[in-house]
Amino acid sequence: MNAQDIVKLKDQALAEADLSASLHDLEVVRIKYLGRKGLLPAIMEGLKDVPPAERPGIGKCANELKQALGARLDEIKARLQQAARSASRQLFDVTLPGAWRFRGARHPVSQVIEEAIAIFARMGFTVADGPDVETEWHNFDALNTPADHPSRDTQDTFWLGPGKLLRTQTSPVQIRVMEGRKPPVRIIAPGRCYRRDTTDATHSANFHQIEGLYVDRKVSMADLKGDITFFAHRMMGSDVKVRFRPHFFPFTEPSVEYDFSCHVCGGSGCRVCKNSGWIEISGAGMVNPKVFSKVGYDPDTCAGYAFGMGVERIAMIKYGIEDIRMLYDNDVRFLSQFG
Ligand code: DAH
Repeated sequence: MNAQDIVKLKDQALAEADLSASLHDLEVVRIKYLGRKGLLPAIMEGLKDVPPAERPGIGKCANELKQALGARLDEIKARLQQAARSASRQLFDVTLPGAWRFRGARHPVSQVIEEAIAIFARMGFTVADGPDVETEWHNFDALNTPADHPSRDTQDTFWLGPGKLLRTQTSPVQIRVMEGRKPPVRIIAPGRCYRRDTTDATHSANFHQIEGLYVDRKVSMADLKGDITFFAHRMMGSDVKVRFRPHFFPFTEPSVEYDFSCHVCGGSGCRVCKNSGWIEISGAGMVNPKVFSKVGYDPDTCAGYAFGMGVERIAMIKYGIEDIRMLYDNDVRFLSQFG
């Protein structure tokens, strides 16, 4: 074999390497030319039979073949390995464990509000809204709350400036609704309230209420009791009892506080109801004629009832939550139970 033959052999070897479609093909080429019993070692072996003058030329060509083919094999090998890696990434391996995604749940406070809206919608109530930053007029004056009423005290109310405060109740939405439209009115207003309360198991400085207002020509205490009871049965179950106790609120006359029988113990007494069998929900009553006058309604031709509800209270007895703070900690271990 002369030098020219070896150059031809080199071209052939490189062409074969280029045609390799797999690592296996490539290895076959490598063994054929560079392997221990391959063509190149055979050439080297034959050098001893070559006339000494030709040896350097043939040796140089053989060496070039070795270098060029080795480099080409390495290059193609790297490319094939890279292709194999990205192909395996695209494969879907059905034996892999699934990727579990966290499933969210509605917050219990939101769930109670949504359920309440749905229940009152069946009685013809629509949802009204008001701002969290309220005026003293809407939160107190128009609600017939005297200037020296303790709830106006800075110890109870977050004042933001003269005449401006964070609403302490959702009752100011009653005023905004009546200022904006003529009777009949039938609204509920869920929302946040703010009070300077020290947080403990049953109090929070930021809680939720649902306000209700029904004004028409003839509305009576019987409507109030019937509608609240209907709500209690839908929200808590038809075995829940409702109790109304005389009370005082400046914006209603007469006024009541109302309780639901304890959902946790069924009324026999437990920790949640502090052994009384009852849980106070909030206040209600017949809209005070003075409030009608403040918003320009005629107290002689209008009658109405109003009520408030503590949303957290309802959530706590409905779901058996003993500490109100659990509702605000945003611990997913707690919240995920409400899905
Ligand atoms: N706003 C009262 C409170 O926060 C609750 C309340 C009582 C609302 C009587 C009413 C009502 O609409 O008529 O304690």
